[in-house]
Amino acid sequence: MSAVVTHSAQTLVLNSSEPTLPLRRAVPVTSSSSSEGAAMLSRRILVLGATSGIAEACCRLWAERGETLYLVARNADKLASVAADLRTRGAAFVETAVADLDNTSAHPELLAHAINALGGLDIAFVSLGTLGEQPKAERNFNDAAQIIHTNFVAAASLLTWLGNYCAQRHAGTLAVLSSVAGDRGRKSNYVYGSAKAGLSAFLSGLRNRIDRDGVRIMTIKPGPVRTAMTQGMKGQEKFADVNKVAATIVKGIDRGGDILYVPGIWRLIMLVIRTVPERVFKKTNL
Ligand SMILES: NC(=O)c1ccc[n+]([C@@H]2O[C@H](COP(=O)([O-])OP(=O)(O)OC[C@H]3O[C@@H](n4cnc5c(N)ncnc54)[C@H](OP(=O)(O)O)[C@@H]3O)[C@@H](O)[C@H]2O)c1
Repeated sequence: MSAVVTHSAQTLVLNSSEPTLPLRRAVPVTSSSSSEGAAMLSRRILVLGATSGIAEACCRLWAERGETLYLVARNADKLASVAADLRTRGAAFVETAVADLDNTSAHPELLAHAINALGGLDIAFVSLGTLGEQPKAERNFNDAAQIIHTNFVAAASLLTWLGNYCAQRHAGTLAVLSSVAGDRGRKSNYVYGSAKAGLSAFLSGLRNRIDRDGVRIMTIKPGPVRTAMTQGMKGQEKFADVNKVAATIVKGIDRGGDILYVPGIWRLIMLVIRTVPERVFKKTNL
């Protein structure tokens, strides 16, 4: 399967076997923080699930640095308002596409169009996700399948196309929001958690395959964060602040690395939780 999209006399083929053509360079911008106003390259960032609270907070930071953004989300009104805000914050370029990312057959064409519009790709930020309702998913597998599809299947599809594109160019970073919930299945959210566990394992394998081709794969594992996803949850006021989480993620992507727990304390918490023996863990109410 391949998608060929022509944009401004350039053609991009998103296909694992066919070669792809060189695309234009990133948009040069002048950064106010750079010495003597020297022009620097604006990174080309594709955001999949751009109306997510965490993605939007990251995009605000990227816009303030003058990055070049292509935003994909399914809610047209929310997307338009996020894009308008980012333009006022200084993004070099903001383009958008409305798409339901559950529709995996549309991914190749959508991605080809986005990458052509950006003129290449430096970072893909995959932020779509749904918590769903665990009790419903226990009663009816259709609800469970929906959670698994959005969090795992749709993300795996996007990452397959993007991974192949980046590997052919020996460049690019794929930064993906998984979750600490994927580190151990718990009765309160094991359907969501298992989809995220699958996503983390997929990313680990993809990294093992294409890191040597110069593609950076970052698995981001947030603990609970105050966003629409956790709205109304007990104890939400104690969850991490989305702007602080975004600052850590943006810095983490700059620095590079394989797995980023955010806030960092979750690395230790999950280390402890993973070591609890199953015969003890099964009796807990986490
Ligand atoms: N908040 C947390 O505590 C937390 C913790 C760990 C990991 N995460 C992960 O972080 C990511 C971002 O979550 P968030 O906290 O920012 O929550 P959020 O604000 O609810 O964001 C989730 C985003 O995914 C989008 N989405 C869901 N299904 C989609 C689809 N089929 N097509 C296109 N977009 C779709 C949603 O779009 P709509 O607005 O149209 O619904 C929404 O923008 C998710 O992957 C989540 O699992 C969150």
